[in-house]
Amino acid sequence: MKIGIFGAGHMGGAMIKGWIKSEKIEPSNLLVRGGRRGTAQSLQKELGFQLTSETSDFKQMDIIFLAVNTPLILPILNELKGLVETSSIPIVSVSAGVSVKEMQEIMGDNYPLAQAIPNTPVQINEGMTGIVFAENIDKKAKETIQFSFDLLGDLVEISEDKIGIFGTLAGCGPAFVDVFMESLADGAVLNGMDRDMAYQVAAKMVSSSANLLLKTGKHPGELKDGVTSPGGTTIKGVTALEKEGFRYATINAIDTIMKS
Ligand SMILES: NC(=O)c1ccc[n+]([C@@H]2O[C@H](COP(=O)([O-])OP(=O)(O)OC[C@H]3O[C@@H](n4cnc5c(N)ncnc54)[C@H](OP(=O)(O)O)[C@@H]3O)[C@@H](O)[C@H]2O)c1
Repeated sequence: MKIGIFGAGHMGGAMIKGWIKSEKIEPSNLLVRGGRRGTAQSLQKELGFQLTSETSDFKQMDIIFLAVNTPLILPILNELKGLVETSSIPIVSVSAGVSVKEMQEIMGDNYPLAQAIPNTPVQINEGMTGIVFAENIDKKAKETIQFSFDLLGDLVEISEDKIGIFGTLAGCGPAFVDVFMESLADGAVLNGMDRDMAYQVAAKMVSSSANLLLKTGKHPGELKDGVTSPGGTTIKGVTALEKEGFRYATINAIDTIMKS
């Protein structure tokens, strides 16, 4: 499969890394157009994909992704319109800020379009991507899009009205978890643990706790109850977190983004 991608920044670069790491997409089958700052050129030196500045080269692709900053999505779609409308190459935008309906206003109701929100773990093929397909998308186009995301981790189809909250939870969430892991490690360093070991232990503990929840299907409260013995040390730590409003701070982080 030949994949074309506009933008190789944080998200575009993460997707490119994931496809190459999957070993199902050769770097030579990835065509990238970047912007003025040269981010794509720097990444190309590391990963060896194809670079172009010609929009017309994207006519040869099986699928096209738009991973540019939100204000550029519709202008680039306008550039592509004349080139791809007869070939109906599926186009997927990964911007939270542009809906399928807005894309359809340029490409028409029957063009194979989708809006997807991936997250940065796509670069290690452990992404969690939400997707909204255009209503009239045909089976072949849908399968092509699904195949490309299956290489990057999990894909869930969601309704248009849930894309915002999906993006906040799955797309912004990794930063919250990063802050949490950094804080856990700081606490360990404060108590004498070596910094590198503290990050390693915190990260493994977070990923294995998440896997335990996913694999057992248990409620997170039940898993927490399993660690907190009566009068024990863990419940003292949980109490200290609650005293500082840990749950409220977390809920409010999601809510603040949704209200912004
Ligand atoms: N970051 C995330 O976790 C995340 C999650 C979900 C969705 N998204 C979405 O992904 C999109 C990109 O976000 P980002 O965080 O990756 O931003 P970013 O790091 O700033 O990357 C934007 C990329 O677009 C390139 N670009 C600029 N103008 C271009 C043009 N005219 N043609 C082709 N490429 C051009 C830039 O190239 P130069 O640097 O060379 O100028 C850069 O590589 C946004 O729409 C965002 O909403 C991001």
